[in-house]
Amino acid sequence: MCGIVGYVGPRPSEGILLSGLARLEYRGYDSAGIAVIDADGTLGMRKRAGKLSVLRDDLDRAPLADGTTGIGHTRWATHGGPTDQNAHPHLADGGKLAVIHNGIIENFAALKAELVAGGAEFLSETDTEVAAVLLAREYHAHGDDLEAAFRATVRRLEGAFTLLALHEEHPGLVVGARRNSPLVIGLGEGENFLGSDVAAFVEHTRHALAIGQDQIVAITPEGVRVTDFDGAEVGVEPFEVTWDAAAAEKGGWSSFMAKEVSEEPDAVANTIRGRFHDDAVAIPELEGMDAVFAGIHRIIVVACGTASYAGQVGKYALEQWSRVPVDVELAHEFRYRDPVLDSSTLVVSISQSGETMDTLMAVKYARERGAATLSICNTQGATIPRESDAVVYTHAGPEVAVASTKAFVAQITALYLLALHIGRVRGALSAQDSARAVAELEAVPGKIQWILDNEQERTAHLARWMADTRSVLFLGRHVGFPIALEGALKLKEISYIHAEGFAAGELKHGPIALIEPGQPVFVIVPSPVHSAMLHDKVVSNIQEIRARGARVIVIAEEGDAAVLPFADEVLHIPLAGPAFEPLLAVVPLHIFAMGLAEAKGLDVDQPRNLAKSVTVE
Ligand code: M6R
Repeated sequence: MCGIVGYVGPRPSEGILLSGLARLEYRGYDSAGIAVIDADGTLGMRKRAGKLSVLRDDLDRAPLADGTTGIGHTRWATHGGPTDQNAHPHLADGGKLAVIHNGIIENFAALKAELVAGGAEFLSETDTEVAAVLLAREYHAHGDDLEAAFRATVRRLEGAFTLLALHEEHPGLVVGARRNSPLVIGLGEGENFLGSDVAAFVEHTRHALAIGQDQIVAITPEGVRVTDFDGAEVGVEPFEVTWDAAAAEKGGWSSFMAKEVSEEPDAVANTIRGRFHDDAVAIPELEGMDAVFAGIHRIIVVACGTASYAGQVGKYALEQWSRVPVDVELAHEFRYRDPVLDSSTLVVSISQSGETMDTLMAVKYARERGAATLSICNTQGATIPRESDAVVYTHAGPEVAVASTKAFVAQITALYLLALHIGRVRGALSAQDSARAVAELEAVPGKIQWILDNEQERTAHLARWMADTRSVLFLGRHVGFPIALEGALKLKEISYIHAEGFAAGELKHGPIALIEPGQPVFVIVPSPVHSAMLHDKVVSNIQEIRARGARVIVIAEEGDAAVLPFADEVLHIPLAGPAFEPLLAVVPLHIFAMGLAEAKGLDVDQPRNLAKSVTVE
């Protein structure tokens, strides 16, 4: 949560900071602020509660003096509500020093007590201001050496943090540090950048450096120096950002979510591109992992939210094609229950952002206990892949809307590739079956496009018609169950109405009591291809809820005539077969949630209380 940007160079920094913050606003949007050292060497600061537009309006009315060194922040509140006072930057040293922060400083209360005892006063309720005041004290204790003071400060902090600081006595210098929270460097010509992710600076440079854990960076217009917390220089990994600024623009769409749903076919196509050779899966990033795959006895998938539902879908494919037992766990539950792990366990993490703290902690924990770790991630240079033994990148492109859509289908695709690869390595999957699955996977982008072309308007119309609905239930079975959970999460997240997903088989064990006349229920009908038994059982479930007055909206494969007599509405998807149906069935659910939120006049991209990247536990 929270977006951070820093700039040093020859250009006026305010515009650069604000456009960086606009690209990072998905990370948090309850307040924003910037601090700039102007040409006279005076630090100016402005911060406002509310979205970035509130800060922009304020700066338009009363601009800060131009300066070429600056930092900016967009906040998702942890300590203290979203007020002007709690917004970042926080100042210290008589207003000469500014600090911004992402994360949680867990020992802030003890540090604050120590500083108060020394006579310090605080203006906000934040943990960040404690870091700022501590840094000011260390600054004077270290002969006004900002970098030395910064090192001394971060060594005292516990928890997770990315911190940036500047001091008006050091124009042309921004210092930053990270522990369990993201920070990347952008390398320009005579200018340099810092950002929570590359979106902060991608319009200026695609050359980037990933900073490791517990490292400090100092940027000046001339260069970049990275050290550990004790000041010893360390090497850093360069990488090129593979997408350009236009990819993270709305480009004429009504919302980022609308754009990203339209990109679902590409997300799948780009994730499989270059990963097939002679009808078999060939993933260059997995070279060197085959001995691990051959030796594992168990796979545990860890993830949160939508990524965990992708994991649940992937479980079916992994077990079917690799014959390795798979458990899927919410990362935060896995981490704190003392799981049994050893070198014969492969822990697969899934994360769009690659920064989700719960997932990161689960990966570190698994690694410390000797398990092999592999991450499925959409963000280059992110922390989770860097902490894992191997990574399979999803190539969905930047996902900006808080509600995850195209990343979800890309994650399932990557899991399928992984399952096919492990299946072949272990000899559990024949070349013929693998080739058949590859062909079916290659057909998926076209099928998703068919849904967007043929069913989008009808689904959106249904959503508009249901704008006053107070509760929606989702039923699925087998691979359709996680899709039901995803449909419900998406609806809760962006349209703020009650929604629950259930396993259809569980209906009679309790949830059927919720059905009353008019209750809308989406049912993901299993493919009639190769799974007549599952299909028929769900058709029976439909009849049971219909008999109790439910309004039944089914998502069914084309030509599935058996469901038609029992459905109030049918949303069609192309014929897919059991393994590939989830990649299609989820699309109408994404469209429906978006349509309903739009019909309610809500901000689909930035739903209340949420942030795109959850970087605190
Ligand atoms: O970046 P990650 O994939 O690790 O994020 C995990 C969840 O926070 C995320 O999927 C969340 O549930 C989405 N907002 C759902 O749309």
